Amino acid sequence: MSEPVQTPQTQTAAFPARIFSGIQPSGGLTLGNYLGALKRFVEKQEEGIETIYCLVDMHAITVWQEPEKLRQQTREGAAAFIAAGIDPARSILFNQSQVSAHAELAWIFNCVARMGWMGRMTQWKDKTAGKNAEAASLGLFAYPALMAADILAYKATHVPVGEDQKQHLELTRDIATKFNNDYGVNFFPITEPVIEGAATRVMSLRDGSKKMSKSDPSDQSRINLTDTADAIAAKIRKAKTDPEPLPETLEALKERPEARNLVNIYAGLSGRTAADVLGEFAGAQFGTFKPALAELAVSVLAPITTEMNRLMADPAEIDRILSAGADRAEAIARPIVDEVYEIVGMVRPRR
Ligand code: AMP
Ligand code: TRP
Repeated sequence: MSEPVQTPQTQTAAFPARIFSGIQPSGGLTLGNYLGALKRFVEKQEEGIETIYCLVDMHAITVWQEPEKLRQQTREGAAAFIAAGIDPARSILFNQSQVSAHAELAWIFNCVARMGWMGRMTQWKDKTAGKNAEAASLGLFAYPALMAADILAYKATHVPVGEDQKQHLELTRDIATKFNNDYGVNFFPITEPVIEGAATRVMSLRDGSKKMSKSDPSDQSRINLTDTADAIAAKIRKAKTDPEPLPETLEALKERPEARNLVNIYAGLSGRTAADVLGEFAGAQFGTFKPALAELAVSVLAPITTEMNRLMADPAEIDRILSAGADRAEAIARPIVDEVYEIVGMVRPRR
C-alpha cells in the first residue's frame, strides 16, 4: 500500500510555527501598510510566536531608487516598525540586503519557478500595464521568487500580509512544492498566508477602486505615517465620498467603494468589525463620520509618528538594531540555505 498523499496543511504542521513578513522601503509607509501589515505584525509578536520582519531593500530596487533615499527609507521603515510596537529584542528586525542567504536562495528559486507562473502575477501585469514591459527590469519579473526565498530561507510557516500579496504567497507555495517534488525531499513547509482584520485592502482616498499605495503620484490619495495631525484631518475631510448617509448594513455598501473604505479604515483603526462601526454610525452623514474618523486616525497615528521622529533623530542606533537583527536572521537562514545547496548538488557557499 502506498503512503497517503500529505495535504499542504499536515505537511506544514511538521514544521515549527514561524512568522515572516516584509515591507519594501520604496517610500514612506502608509495607513494601508499599517492596517494591512504592521498592526498585524505586532499582534503576532504578542502571541509569542517567533516573528521575523524584514525591510526588503532588494525588492525595492526592482524599480529605480536613489541610493541615499533608499538608505534613509530603510531606516525610516525600521523606525516605523519599532514605533508601531515591534520590539527588536523579541522579534527579529533587519533589512534584506544584509543577509546574503536571500539572494542565494532566490537564484535557486529562479531556476525552480517557471516563466509562465511569473507572467501570470497580477502585480507584474499591473505594474507593466500600458507601459513597455520590455523596459521593465528582469528583477521586477523575478520579484516573487525573491519573495519566496525571503520566506523559505527561514522555513516560515505563516506570513501576515495585505490582500494584494495573496497571489505571491500562492506562488511561494508552488515553488516550495515543486522544490520538494523535484528533489524528492520534504524540506520546505507549504506556507500559509495570514490575511486578517477589517482592513486587509485599504483603498485610495481619491479613488475607491485603487489601493492606497506609497507609489501613488497623488499624496492626497494616502495617509503617510509621517503626516501631521492637520494633514491627516485635511486628507480625510477631502476624501472622495458620495452624498448618501451611512447605511445600516454592509450589503448596502457594496456599490459604494469610497464609503466602504472609510468604514473599513474606522474598523481597522478601532479594532472593531465594519458591521459594528455601521451599528454606531448608521444614518450619519459624512459631515459627522469624517471628523470622527479623523479624530480616531490622529489618536492612533500621532503617537507612532512622534516615536518615529524620535528614533529617526539617532540613525546610528537604528543601524545598530538592523545589524543585530541581521546577525540573528543570518544564524537561522545560513544553515537552511547551506542545506539547499547540498540538496541541489552544489557546494556550500563560502562566507
Ligand atoms: P508594500 O508597501 O507593497 O511593501 O507592502 C507591504 C505590506 O503592506 C504587504 O503585506 C501589503 O499587503 C501591505 N499593504 C500595502 N498596501 C496596502 C493597502 N493599501 N491595504 C492593506 N495592506 C496593504
Ligand atoms: N512583496 C511584498 C509587498 O510588496 C513585500 C515582501 C517581500 C514580502 N518579501 C516578502 C511580504 C516576504 C511577505 C513575505 O508587499
